[in-house]
Amino acid sequence: MKSPDTTKNTFALTTPLYYVNDLPHVGSAYTTMAADAVARFERLRGKSVLLITGTDEHGQKIQRTAESLGRSPQIHCDLIAAGFQSLWQQLNIQYDRFSRTTAPRHQSIVKEFFQRVWATGDIYLSQQKGWYCVSCEEFKEERDLLPGKKCPTHTSKEVEWRDEENYFFRLSRYQNQLQELYEQRPDFIQPKSRRNEVLSFVSTGLQDFSISRVNLDWGLPFPTDDRHTIYVWFDALLGYITALLDPDVEPTLENALSKWWPINLHLIGKDILRFHAVYWPAMLMSADLPMPGRIFGHGFLTKDGKKMGKTEGNVIDPVELVKQYGADAVRYYFLKEIEFGQDGDFNETRFIDTVNADLANDLGNLVNRTLSMAHKYCGGIIPINGEDIPTDNPLKVMGLTLSDRAIDAYENLAFSQVCEAVLTLVRSGNKFIDDRAPWSLYKQGQLEAVREVLYSVLESVRLAAYLLSPIIPNISTAIYQQLGFSIDFNDQVAINNIDILSTGAIWGNLPANQALRKPEPVFKRIEVLQSVSRSLVI
Ligand code: MSP
Repeated sequence: MKSPDTTKNTFALTTPLYYVNDLPHVGSAYTTMAADAVARFERLRGKSVLLITGTDEHGQKIQRTAESLGRSPQIHCDLIAAGFQSLWQQLNIQYDRFSRTTAPRHQSIVKEFFQRVWATGDIYLSQQKGWYCVSCEEFKEERDLLPGKKCPTHTSKEVEWRDEENYFFRLSRYQNQLQELYEQRPDFIQPKSRRNEVLSFVSTGLQDFSISRVNLDWGLPFPTDDRHTIYVWFDALLGYITALLDPDVEPTLENALSKWWPINLHLIGKDILRFHAVYWPAMLMSADLPMPGRIFGHGFLTKDGKKMGKTEGNVIDPVELVKQYGADAVRYYFLKEIEFGQDGDFNETRFIDTVNADLANDLGNLVNRTLSMAHKYCGGIIPINGEDIPTDNPLKVMGLTLSDRAIDAYENLAFSQVCEAVLTLVRSGNKFIDDRAPWSLYKQGQLEAVREVLYSVLESVRLAAYLLSPIIPNISTAIYQQLGFSIDFNDQVAINNIDILSTGAIWGNLPANQALRKPEPVFKRIEVLQSVSRSLVI
């Protein structure tokens, strides 16, 4: 089994390609924030990164939505795709490719891929009978339906009976090969609970699935039969490959696969695990292409403990959220408070408490008061070097091992562990400064001790900003600049070129004599009064 070469200096990752039946909700924003944090982390460690996101625009669901709004499907797709792009900008998502499945070049890729699979004999015509959920764009087993023939995922939607001629993909042929893949590559599906879910599903025996639709024009033409269109999921998964094409090259599979394939990481929600962990690898096996690196299925978000949904009337509007609280606060809350892989809840009071406690109090105040003291007691410059700090200084001891832990956690997509580990250093910084009271040391004329305290706290703050920069890039930039650097963590080109970043993960990096700027709040405390009257729900 061909695996991706992990020594390569490139890293390609994807979010799902989002359905354009509606504007983005906080669930789509969640995956994309996580993907952006991974992309920024990989860039920081010097990799050349390709972050792919985009929209999934074909199928019955989109066609019906457009019709109900009196729009042509394409105009509808253009409008909603623009809504996604605008949200990503507001959330400070640095994506490299936005893959739209209605782009003409995508059709060429799908056609060529289809021909490869067709040539292996893996596609055949048969009759499809079953219950179809248009919202999932998926056939459902009768035993999984809720009372009233409702879909288990879209609990207010009734499934529809279908009995039609479809082309099928021979998924069953890949049962053994898939099982071998899961065995040889235990990290292929993460977290473990999702892997187990897939193993148990596959062990019950795989059935072929239909990859064409009749009576539906809003889809790509089926290359060998013009009465059919291609099933939206077959088309959408290939959107990941189309996205790899450089903008001006001819859209061929060879060009698309030449630099970035295999993709290192597919980030998805748990509801679309089978498509990514079973159907997709089988399609790639059929086309004789190497497997992606790993597939990570995160959990679902709830609001105040309840399932989030349009019908429940409690869908959080991410645009409102960012407008009200800013991108860094939103990114921080979702990545810190919800263990990635588990389900998690959004509660506005907890949101405000968390960002106020961690970002405004623990981190922000520490930066502010330490910088003020450095101006007062050390003439506004970094007073000494990292080597001058004794090896038993508690912040140095902690700081020297923190990066390895944070890097490990990033590699495992354990964002909340990254935040916890970094915040522990920040809290220790606060405690250290309270215990050592540099203001009294100064009065007693113990200037060497004052320098040690201030250096070790400022350096801890710097390291914290560095390690959190994939999650809170604006706050990290503000901290770095107040410490006298000219680094902007949002400037991708600069990030790749600045030497200091390669040593940034090492405690002791702040250079003596660097001039400090005037302290300014890096994160303004959220006052509760300002939030309660407004509604975040759409
Ligand atoms: N179009 C397909 C994906 C095709 S990928 C080739 C699709 N789109 S979607 O817009 O319905 O869902 C996109 C992602 O949003 C999925 O990963 C899904 O898990 C995620 N979420 C939808 N609701 C969510 C929550 N309430 N919470 C967290 N994520 C959620 O499926």
